[in-house]
Amino acid sequence: MTAPAPATTAAARLTASELTLAYEDRTVVHELDLAIPDGEVTVIVGPNACGKSTTLRALGRLLKPKGGSVLLDGEALAKLPTRRVAQQIGLLPQTPVAPEAITVGDLVARGRQPHQRWWQQWSDADETAVTEAMARTDVAELAERSVDELSGGQRQRVWIAMALAQETELLLLDEPTTYLDISHQVEVLDLVRQLNHDRGRTVVVVLHDLNQAARYADHLVAMKAGRLVARGTPAEVVTEELVREVFGLDCVVIPDPVTGSPLVVPGTPWQPSAPGKSAPPAGPSAPADSSAPTGPSAPADASAPADKKPPLDERPTS
Ligand SMILES: Nc1ncnc2c1ncn2[C@@H]1O[C@H](COP(=O)(O)OP(=O)(O)O)[C@@H](O)[C@H]1O
Ligand SMILES: [Mg+2]
Repeated sequence: MTAPAPATTAAARLTASELTLAYEDRTVVHELDLAIPDGEVTVIVGPNACGKSTTLRALGRLLKPKGGSVLLDGEALAKLPTRRVAQQIGLLPQTPVAPEAITVGDLVARGRQPHQRWWQQWSDADETAVTEAMARTDVAELAERSVDELSGGQRQRVWIAMALAQETELLLLDEPTTYLDISHQVEVLDLVRQLNHDRGRTVVVVLHDLNQAARYADHLVAMKAGRLVARGTPAEVVTEELVREVFGLDCVVIPDPVTGSPLVVPGTPWQPSAPGKSAPPAGPSAPADSSAPTGPSAPADASAPADKKPPLDERPTS
């Protein structure tokens, strides 16, 4: 068991205290204590169904706590006026639903609602924010198109544009790279970093790709079965032991050749065993067999004989 790192000492406008979240009678997040460091990128990782989206929704006030609380600037989020919350916290849920037949331009413009007043429906600031958000996410040329007819990747970028147009200091994004091809994934995550750097935005992102998480996080949070298992810098959190404990995956962790952040390389893929040979279970860090093929940058002990395979039966099925 990896002990959770001590609570961060950085200032944190958004915190969860003994947060318990449930759907009807089923509790899915248990007494979670979490501080989101201001001005940093926090990434939440964990296996499917461990409660990442549920936690994010509670941080964005889409879900009311069953126990404990979420605090914004020391005040219970549940008690704050909706408009004030929406001016401070932007949330892109995992599966947002667009109003039928709405155009891209109109959807992105909805991000400005919390800033509008009855006496001024649309200001220059609104126009600038929408134009800039659409440019940054590369959707300006889709403005007149109906959201319904876009590809999954285009639609995802439109939702991100809407969240950006809201211009909140805190931005919560649930798996924003879903549906995106690899170059758009990198673009979106670079954009997150850029917003964080240029504007000092505090961002919380749920990502399912551990390597992307390790590359982009300042503060990495690992959850399992509704509980926080570890938090800290990627180097502190992403260890072979933690990946095994949280994801049930045998792997080796090597430095990312480009960034130096931890890079998770899963164990040997399944292969049919050679005729007449039984396949003894072996993790990827089994003693090196120098005759086994190795990848160009794999460390020596990362190799396992080709007829050995990691124990698949320990992997999570959810
Ligand atoms: N709207 C819902 N109603 C009932 N159960 C839900 C709902 N949303 C999620 N759950 C359940 O809560 C648990 C955590 O889900 P979720 O937070 O979406 O996990 P993750 O984002 O980590 O994959 C899962 O068991 C899931 O089935
Ligand atoms: Mg989720």
